[in-house]
Amino acid sequence: MKMGIVGATGEVGRTMIKVLEERGHDFEELRLFSSKRSAGTKLSFNSKIIKAEELTEKSMEEGFDYLLFSAGKDVSRKFAPIAAKHGSTVIDNSSAFRMDPDIPLVVPEINADVLKDYHGIVANPNCSTIQLVLALNPLHAVYKLKHVVVTTMQAVSGSGRKGINELKDEITKSSDPVVYPRKIAYNCVPQIGAFKENGFSEEEMKMINETRKIMDCTCVVDATTVRVPVIYGHSESVYAEFERNFSLNEVIKVFNKAPSIKVWKDYPTAIEVFGSDLSHVGRLRISNDGKALMFWNVADNVRVGAATNAVKILEYFLRNG
Ligand SMILES: NC(=O)c1ccc[n+]([C@@H]2O[C@H](COP(=O)([O-])OP(=O)(O)OC[C@H]3O[C@@H](n4cnc5c(N)ncnc54)[C@H](OP(=O)(O)O)[C@@H]3O)[C@@H](O)[C@H]2O)c1
Repeated sequence: MKMGIVGATGEVGRTMIKVLEERGHDFEELRLFSSKRSAGTKLSFNSKIIKAEELTEKSMEEGFDYLLFSAGKDVSRKFAPIAAKHGSTVIDNSSAFRMDPDIPLVVPEINADVLKDYHGIVANPNCSTIQLVLALNPLHAVYKLKHVVVTTMQAVSGSGRKGINELKDEITKSSDPVVYPRKIAYNCVPQIGAFKENGFSEEEMKMINETRKIMDCTCVVDATTVRVPVIYGHSESVYAEFERNFSLNEVIKVFNKAPSIKVWKDYPTAIEVFGSDLSHVGRLRISNDGKALMFWNVADNVRVGAATNAVKILEYFLRNG
């Protein structure tokens, strides 16, 4: 099989390589692509050294069985359609195609069935959305979700290497912000992406629209997304109202049966879930008016929110021909 990773030298790309290795994959040919900047960088896969090569239109015309894209939306917009036109199935981590009605937006535990007999570009959802829908969907199946209000606390690795470097530079060199609109060191910034006319930020609109698309749900979603000075792991405070009655004991049983969810007796934190492929929940309680379930949700954003979900989509295709 001929396989490629675009953006292989980045936070998500490097983690994709690691996750593929951990899950026992091997390929006749694995090609790794980056920009010109990192071309020649040596990366290791299953003890073989592979040099990153510069991404070109010509390389995308070669025809790969599968390509995992993780190099930002501009790169995806330009190169993914070329690859798909030449027969490659593309699993794309960027926001470029997520809300295109003709492109499946997939979290395999929830809606892998939309991939049946599908070829072309598949979109991987936004990181903060994946961990949320992994927790909400099993509850939605039983109680029918009516309204969810979520506040996120998102790690700087969600912006890739440049986000991590900005936090470190502000701490060690007191440098001024470039990536984020305000200082991120020792601070919380309630803006991820530009604000839209309705007052919600781009990241908030991604969570709102993607949650409804993946869960095929007409529920109301409200989000406040906040960047915090954490390197890995997104945390979310969730308030969810349902059409049907529920009890805490039942909810815990539903969560315990769900794939990819771990229920904590107390609560998970970002540092504790680093390297995990699960979406972790804790602090389960019922709101004071008895209407809503409230909980705390944490996941490794680079794995659950990007690399592992993409590899699980790939595995669906490998299993189903
Ligand atoms: N980090 C997360 O938690 C997360 C979660 C979900 C989705 N995503 C999405 O995944 C994508 C990558 O994120 P990341 O965190 O891995 O970013 P990153 O650490 O900045 O890495 C970006 C990667 O893209 C490559 N690249 C950049 N411009 C390119 C170009 N013009 N041509 C070819 N390759 C190019 C970079 O190559 P060089 O090394 O040569 O610069 C690098 O390999 C983004 O679309 C992001 O929104 C990230």
